[in-house]
Amino acid sequence: MFFVVVLSVLSLPFLWWYFFLQKFKSLSVIPGPRPLPLIGNAFDIGDTPIALLNNCAKLLNQYGDVFKIFIGNECKVFIANADFLEEIMSSNVHITKSNTYDLLKPFLNDGLLTSRGSKWKKRRKMITPTLHFKILDQFLEVFNSSTDILIAKLSSEVGKDWTDIYPYINLFSLDVICETTMGVKISSQEGKNSEFVHALSHYFDILVVRAFSAWKRFDFLFKFAAEYPLQEKYVETLQKFCSSVIEKRRLEKSPQVVETTSDLGIKRRIALLDLLLESDDLTNDDIKEEINTFMFAGHDTTTSGVTFALLALAENPEIQQNVYEEILEVVGEEKYVSMQHLQDTKYLEMVIKEVQRKYSSVPFIERQLEMDATICGVHFPRGATLHLYLHGVHHNEKYFPDPEKFDPERFLPHRQAERHNYAFVPFSAGPRNCIGQKFAMFDIKVLIIKILQKFKILQAPDYKPQLGMAAVLKSYNGMRLRLTRRDSGK
Ligand code: HEM
Repeated sequence: MFFVVVLSVLSLPFLWWYFFLQKFKSLSVIPGPRPLPLIGNAFDIGDTPIALLNNCAKLLNQYGDVFKIFIGNECKVFIANADFLEEIMSSNVHITKSNTYDLLKPFLNDGLLTSRGSKWKKRRKMITPTLHFKILDQFLEVFNSSTDILIAKLSSEVGKDWTDIYPYINLFSLDVICETTMGVKISSQEGKNSEFVHALSHYFDILVVRAFSAWKRFDFLFKFAAEYPLQEKYVETLQKFCSSVIEKRRLEKSPQVVETTSDLGIKRRIALLDLLLESDDLTNDDIKEEINTFMFAGHDTTTSGVTFALLALAENPEIQQNVYEEILEVVGEEKYVSMQHLQDTKYLEMVIKEVQRKYSSVPFIERQLEMDATICGVHFPRGATLHLYLHGVHHNEKYFPDPEKFDPERFLPHRQAERHNYAFVPFSAGPRNCIGQKFAMFDIKVLIIKILQKFKILQAPDYKPQLGMAAVLKSYNGMRLRLTRRDSGK
């Protein structure tokens, strides 16, 4: 009797596994590596950002642009095919994020990136106008002044064999996102607010650890992990900082304006927070989740976009020269990069797009099906996770021949017109696309224009970046580059 009970108990997980696989039987038409009972394809996919990037690329080569894996209690279908992406991204139904996004909830709660259903719809409608052209025009001043500080910092690195530019760009992005969303200068580039900066960057480190751990990703089990009290401490620091800014702003007599000093004198500028404060519907907690969401969604992504843009320019000196010549022609030696300059630097735009293709800042996003669905003729059961593999579609030879070649001319208007609309989707597309995409493009453009006005960017000796993908694409051995001053003639 005892043995029967023990056997029955031991066989329970396998029974669960059998029924779990049955649920996804209709996906047998989609290829993928054979899963092991219970652990699925954990070994095929790896448990670090570097392994994940390399293994996913291998699976894409082996199984084609739609393949599936089983991991934990999920069946994930990796999609690097533009037809599938079009059906999913353009849909008003498949807009629910997967469980992976729950890892963000301690910090973001239910902000725009993670929320679902009617809450997301209402907020999206409310927040979209806060990033219209006029507001972005005002943000240009922050992009300009923060880049000036960055350039001053980088000046002491000129002439060295190499500099890891990642920490510099990271603080630059943080200064920009805090000033534009909260209206406060945190001056992280100048070493201020270090507790907040430390909390934010270490919270992100813990996120990556959780995302790749077999057990730390489960909220209940994570409570026993060494990182749990640290996460609590960091979240508390971040929430306190945000709350104090919101409360201070509410008390101000005219909350919709901020006074800042710039090279051009005193300017009055609106921050995202001020626009949210104008709504009677939003409590302080509602506002906090949206502000934190913007800080999360706009910080590491821009850092990644800028660092890889600088790497690509160093690796391709003739392309850097073309960009520089365009800057000379359009901007000359002017110190303030204006909206007109941004509109006229067309070649730079193509270069940034090619950077987003080759080094997609957001390498993947995920959706969870809330109902059975037929997508491009394949029946997907409710509960399946759609892993929209953006880095994969951007490296799919079908759309981008010779994908490892850095070639901005892929984005010449006539060549773009020949390509599938959903083959290049670094900001996603459709109703749940990136709300900050213009912000990001302008920010990156201003930085590159101003940096190239001053410096030539060269490759560091004996250095190869070690790319890995988690929430963003990142080089895990820093981003080493060499800077020389343009006016030194080197
Ligand atoms: C290179 C820079 C950036 C890239 C590549 C990027 C990419 C993306 C992608 C792919 C999504 C879809 C996420 C998903 O479906 O899970 C997204 C969403 C979002 N992004 Fe960005 N992003 C960038 C910069 C920014 C910036 C600067 C901001 C804010 C100022 C921002 C704010 C957001 C928000 C709030 C969402 C959620 C939108 C929603 O679900 O309605 N992003 N971004």
